[in-house]
Amino acid sequence: MINVAVLGASGYTALEVIKILLRHPHVKIVACISRQEGTPLVSSIHPSLTKRIDLRCEELDLGSLKEKDVQCVFSCLPHGASMEVIPKLIKAGIRVIDLSADYRLKDPVIYKKWYGEEHLDISGLASAVYGLPEFNSLDIKTCNLLANPGCYPQTAILGLAPLLVEKLIHPEQIIVDSKSGVSGAGRNPKQATHFPECNESVSAYQVGKHRHTPEMEQALEKVSGERVKIMFTPHLIPMDRGIFSTIYAKPKKEISEQAINELVCKFYKDKPFIRLVDHLPATKDSVGTNYVDLHYKVAGDYIVVLAAEDNLIRGASGVAVQNFNLMFGLPEVTALLP
Ligand SMILES: NC(=O)c1ccc[n+]([C@@H]2O[C@H](COP(=O)([O-])OP(=O)(O)OC[C@H]3O[C@@H](n4cnc5c(N)ncnc54)[C@H](OP(=O)(O)O)[C@@H]3O)[C@@H](O)[C@H]2O)c1
Repeated sequence: MINVAVLGASGYTALEVIKILLRHPHVKIVACISRQEGTPLVSSIHPSLTKRIDLRCEELDLGSLKEKDVQCVFSCLPHGASMEVIPKLIKAGIRVIDLSADYRLKDPVIYKKWYGEEHLDISGLASAVYGLPEFNSLDIKTCNLLANPGCYPQTAILGLAPLLVEKLIHPEQIIVDSKSGVSGAGRNPKQATHFPECNESVSAYQVGKHRHTPEMEQALEKVSGERVKIMFTPHLIPMDRGIFSTIYAKPKKEISEQAINELVCKFYKDKPFIRLVDHLPATKDSVGTNYVDLHYKVAGDYIVVLAAEDNLIRGASGVAVQNFNLMFGLPEVTALLP
């Protein structure tokens, strides 16, 4: 068994990590680390875990993690808080999967520009591996610090990569229009995600300046070798979970839907969690799973990519376990097939 700990245990992504790991045949959760006062039972914070886990929340204590022979920590903290803790875990010889954005952007100058603060762990940033298993499974297998990819970026990167790699679209004229359920904002209440504010309403936010923009561009530049520019607008939509992205790209020359489908099918051959669907995707079809559903249309002067996923599973905790499986030499799909 591989002993693991979950950090930020009271949050939404931590709950999903715990739920997936409880059915993982090679994992034992030995610590749930939390700032919650009075070491409450994990199941009292997440009632859906009643009778499924009997651990209590505990404070972060490196000595105790070492005593418990923890080999991997799933860090489910907000950005900023993550990079304060992770260097200590890595120094203690524990592998880390970071679900926050702290280690995703390779250039600390770009991190500061988009996240508004200096990066605190430049050497960790240099060694971290961006964890998109469809593209860099070899690096993932050997890394000690894994930067789990963002929720919105995965729909855009996975939808656009085949088109960019095959040089089918103009890389600097891409529009990504995304909608997310409210759990994307985490469990901490905020005015914008308060029920009367967001229910029965759809609204855009961070137009043209959302922090996931440079992550999409960085990953797509890496796979395509070209400069990529994305205009990204996210929207909040009154549902619990799910992300839907509608992506508009300008083809360099005429291409049929059939040709695109054949190319994408070949590109993602043997990738267990990419589904090229023959119908228009809907979030309800991938919610609760680690799948990303993709569909391609040629319409007017555009190729339109439609992508749907569960923000908490494929967008965060599911792909984190997929990465964990690769890091520990296990079949990629372990504990993740519905
Ligand atoms: N929600 C999504 O769809 C999604 C998708 C992809 C990535 N992510 C990323 O995953 C991370 C966790 O997201 P989430 O949705 O699970 O958030 P969340 O529900 O707000 O949970 C984060 C947890 O981190 C701990 N925490 C909060 N502030 C902290 C601080 N300043 N210092 C130390 N610990 C703190 C808290 O747990 P304790 O009180 O138990 O310590 C909190 O419950 C974030 O970085 C987020 O950007 C989220």
